[in-house]
Amino acid sequence: MAITQEDVLKALSYVEEPDLGKDLVTLNMIEDVQINGLDVSFTVILTTPACPLKDLIRNACIRAIHTMVDKNANVTVNMTSRVTTARQDNASILKGVKNIIAVASGKGGVGKSTVTANLAVALAQSGAKVGLVDADISGPSVPTMFGVEDARPRMFRSDDGRNLIEPIEKYGIKLISIGFLTPAEHAVVWRGPMASSALKQFITEVDWGELDYLLIDLPPGTSDIHLTLVQTVPVTGAIIVTTPQKVAIADALKGLQMFRQPQINVPVLGLVENMAYFTPAELPENKYYIFGQGGGRDLAERYGVPFIGEIPLVQSIRESGDQGAPQILQTGTPAALAFEQVAQEVARQISVRNASMAKTKIVEIKA
Ligand SMILES: Nc1ncnc2c1ncn2[C@@H]1O[C@H](COP(=O)(O)OP(=O)(O)OP(=O)(O)O)[C@@H](O)[C@H]1O
Ligand SMILES: [Mg+2]
Repeated sequence: MAITQEDVLKALSYVEEPDLGKDLVTLNMIEDVQINGLDVSFTVILTTPACPLKDLIRNACIRAIHTMVDKNANVTVNMTSRVTTARQDNASILKGVKNIIAVASGKGGVGKSTVTANLAVALAQSGAKVGLVDADISGPSVPTMFGVEDARPRMFRSDDGRNLIEPIEKYGIKLISIGFLTPAEHAVVWRGPMASSALKQFITEVDWGELDYLLIDLPPGTSDIHLTLVQTVPVTGAIIVTTPQKVAIADALKGLQMFRQPQINVPVLGLVENMAYFTPAELPENKYYIFGQGGGRDLAERYGVPFIGEIPLVQSIRESGDQGAPQILQTGTPAALAFEQVAQEVARQISVRNASMAKTKIVEIKA
């Protein structure tokens, strides 16, 4: 009997996406089913560009067709990706942006900006469209970390008559930072309400276009800027960065709890432990847990948030940040691999979040 499209879809409805806990057909992940005699082909639309489960899903699809449709079928599985979103369709702000991800910490200097920069490049390398807002108005670091200190964004008038800022593009990422608009020595005057209005401007008056991920590199602590962010846009989720020291972990918990307050209610996508262990360049296999081991993982477990991964303390991470070419660009180094794994896990947690939780709303805080 000739194979039909229905046979193929029925078989694929028994293949589960392990992370999302539903079958590929229910999740609308199958497209373009073609049948020609015994040749069967279709496209699986993954929810993250560099999905670690790619091969597993492909094999499960082939097995399902062979067992449920025809054991002699020649199955071709094409894989592509479409990043999902939990945005409300009617939200007019940042219309083309699928996911808004806040990167925060409690303590300063734990490596938020370093992690965000590398995460941005890793996601872009995997094929996603990525933007990055430097929300640290009094201590911007994006211009240095991306080697664009002298860049000055162009302003233009949009078709609907609004004045917009064109973000700076580097390594395929759209960037905005207060450092592009005021010389470094003036940055200190940006405080309180001015900082908040600058952040609002970065979100609403920048031509972000279509993005899979807009990352927000927040200043340390739990400031007005954090409140401004959640009151301005529906934040998809937050990533908390910590180092292993007790003081950093205690502050990370404060950061985590801020997002979890009932009136804010932004899902915490997970915890990244930066400077988790020291690895000397000449002994890349050695790991020295000089600040203690397991603190980040323990915190994540205790408060029921995913543990995203560990980044080592290595000199080249600091150097590459200072030189404006994030570590991740040194493909194949252990530190780049650590960032790649973190990026993959972040993308995965975003698609799990989008499949399983309610949409995030803009926070309204009543006076
Ligand atoms: N894993 C690492 N290995 C080596 N150096 C690192 C690592 N992570 C960050 N650094 C360095 O530590 C310093 C602080 O990092 P970064 O600016 O990313 O922290 P931050 O949390 O954004 O700080 P702030 O709270 O001031 O915004 C930088 O000089 C950076 O290059
Ligand atoms: Mg920073």
